[in-house]
Amino acid sequence: MATERTLSIIKPDATRRNLTGKINAKLEDAGLRIVAQKRIAMTKEQAEAFYEVHRERPFYGSLVDFMTSGPVVVQVLEGDNAVAKNREVMGATNPADADAGTIRAEFAESIEANSVHGSDSAENAAREVAFFFSDDEIVG
Ligand code: CMP
Repeated sequence: MATERTLSIIKPDATRRNLTGKINAKLEDAGLRIVAQKRIAMTKEQAEAFYEVHRERPFYGSLVDFMTSGPVVVQVLEGDNAVAKNREVMGATNPADADAGTIRAEFAESIEANSVHGSDSAENAAREVAFFFSDDEIVG
């Protein structure tokens, strides 16, 4: 198995409910290591650029508003097959479809306020990690 890095975001619905530790316990219990982390207020420009791929989707404007509605925790996770493992621990985008025990099944409020984001491919992980972190901020 390949050691990978992936970007994780704990979203405003989760920081508002003080769930950062509970979410990260699930990630760490799955064998993922948090090798970089910062709590930030995303700007509108950052949220628009980060979710650029969804610009034409009907939920884009609402998503940008949501992601700037409160603090987020951006973090880099490292481990064997980290991209897929993080997505497994997160569960499906829509919490109604998420497997029991996953972060979204336990904590998400809705398909939009779904508590966490995770990169969906190794290629996007590299882009998303570089969006928030410089190399010297990642300490494995
Ligand atoms: P995320 O994994 O961060 O990627 C895009 C985000 O858009 C998604 O999680 C949700 O927060 C949000 N979203 C809102 N509505 C939808 C939808 N209908 N389909 C997919 N994502 C949605």
